[in-house]
Amino acid sequence: MTRTIQRGKIPNTPILDRFPNPFKGDSYRYSNNSKLLDPPVVLTITPEYFEEVALKRQLLESRKEQCFQSFEHSVEAQWEILEMIMQEMVSEYPDYFSLIKNENHWTFQNHLLEEEQSFTFGDSSTLPYEPLDFIGRHVQEDLIYLGQRDGELYMDAGQLVFPANWSLNFDLGMSFLEIHSPVPYAFSGSGLAEKVRSFILRIEAGKPWTRYNWTLTVEPILDTSPETFDTWGPKKDKVTSDNAGDLVHLRVEDQRLFRLPRSNGVLFGIHTHLIPLNEYCKNQQWKKQFYNVLTDLPDDLADYKGFISFKDRVVEYLEKK
Ligand code: HEM
Repeated sequence: MTRTIQRGKIPNTPILDRFPNPFKGDSYRYSNNSKLLDPPVVLTITPEYFEEVALKRQLLESRKEQCFQSFEHSVEAQWEILEMIMQEMVSEYPDYFSLIKNENHWTFQNHLLEEEQSFTFGDSSTLPYEPLDFIGRHVQEDLIYLGQRDGELYMDAGQLVFPANWSLNFDLGMSFLEIHSPVPYAFSGSGLAEKVRSFILRIEAGKPWTRYNWTLTVEPILDTSPETFDTWGPKKDKVTSDNAGDLVHLRVEDQRLFRLPRSNGVLFGIHTHLIPLNEYCKNQQWKKQFYNVLTDLPDDLADYKGFISFKDRVVEYLEKK
């Protein structure tokens, strides 16, 4: 019997109290800005859970190839990820999820969505989707699996529905350095990418890491994939210093890295948060810091992040505020 939980059960914490501000000082440069993750959990459940999970599922149905990719050899690791996330769901959010295990016969319940799925652990034919795709449909995070072989990391599977302009379809099978080759020289050519790769290769089970990445997006659009650029790209031309506060959103990815002890691969979780600048700037300290970061940012970074064409409008907006 499924317990019913009211939707309002997810606490409606104001966005300013929970938004992950990505800036540390008055300047932003590429660095290995990873920190030990405490508490060591994959998921963050926010009041946007219902709309984001619904959007995720809708995009997975309409553009499956773009949103989910996997190699056959990743299936065992996908089960490991499903298990890890289900365990966390029931220990961290016992009111929202439950899991009944009878040897390999498991029943997973999502009380928020009033859904139940029974399956045989390890047997993909008993789930409606591949394990990573199944569990990804119950969380707000995008989930990428990297296999580790011969001192290298390869993108072996992923559910990526809310990308910051990169393509899973294109990147599947690539190594860590190949994935990062479009990133400006300060990361990809300076030796930093190699250092970050060595750091990830050494991540230990039970000691996950986290970092923030950020950019600006026009309108609250989570799916900024290269394949749909024609729907969101031209919106950049609409930005003025008067409307920037409503139109332009700070987009922050809370990225988390976990060693998977059985497969020895790495799970890379990405939770994307959006906030309109008008809201973000209600925090006076954040506003000042953001102005300093933007005016100090090298052009190649602003160009790569996709906002060089309207950066000056945002700076003018911040000056007026
Ligand atoms: C292993 C997990 C990771 C994966 C799968 C991954 C993947 C990606 C991808 C797909 C991009 C976009 C590349 C493109 O334009 O096509 C990117 C950008 C980037 N990644 Fe990673 N990344 C990972 C971990 C890291 C870590 C730990 C760092 C630490 C510094 C890092 C630093 C960056 C930077 C600086 C960018 C450019 C972002 C920007 O300027 O907005 N990545 N990453």
